[in-house]
Amino acid sequence: MDFKKVSFEKSYGTMAQMPPSTVPEVAFIGRSNVGKSSLLNKLCGKKGLAGVSQKPGKTATINFFRADGAKLVDLPGYGFANTSKKERDRLGKLIEGYLSSDRNIALVCSLIDIRHDATKLDVEMVGFLREVGVPFFVVLTKGDKLSKGKCAQQKAAIRRQLGIESDDQLMVTSAEKGTGINDLRQFINMMLGQ
Ligand code: GTP
Ligand code: MG
Repeated sequence: MDFKKVSFEKSYGTMAQMPPSTVPEVAFIGRSNVGKSSLLNKLCGKKGLAGVSQKPGKTATINFFRADGAKLVDLPGYGFANTSKKERDRLGKLIEGYLSSDRNIALVCSLIDIRHDATKLDVEMVGFLREVGVPFFVVLTKGDKLSKGKCAQQKAAIRRQLGIESDDQLMVTSAEKGTGINDLRQFINMMLGQ
């Protein structure tokens, strides 16, 4: 897919509103503030495509972005403690509903901040992705915040925490510096068969 041609399509607050998928979808999931929207913007080379905020909990809907023959999907962040229980439940249901639906999901990029160890929710999310059987890939974000050596160390630690067997199933990126962005584009296109 041509990442330069991606444009915003529509946001959905419930699964019921979502029309069936017509083309393969690549989704981005991770803790609130992990950098999902920033990564999406960087992949597409457009700053304002997906909303980015200093405050966690910015993305509260499932946002679809259209490209030629595929769609990118920005999912709401999980684990943001400062929202009400009711809102967290709604977001949890929305995320789970999307991931366990019969939609045409070609790949889920599961994002984890490289500066921190995987949280309980991150481990649960990867477990959930394994359980529902969607293809997934772990993307470590904010690589610019650590030295090269520390990045390698954290990559190995997070891989262990998530029980990931191969080094090929996770990569380090930076939406700030552009690290790993081209490799991720290539990997997504490979998963889309393009
Ligand atoms: P929610 O929509 O709340 O779930 O957040 P999100 O995962 O979409 O995160 P978002 O892209 O809004 O980024 C959160 C914060 O992290 C913003 O202040 C970004 O500028 C910052 N950020 C994201 N990616 C990077 C990165 O690669 N490097 C650095 N240094 N900061 C980043
Ligand atoms: Mg976001």
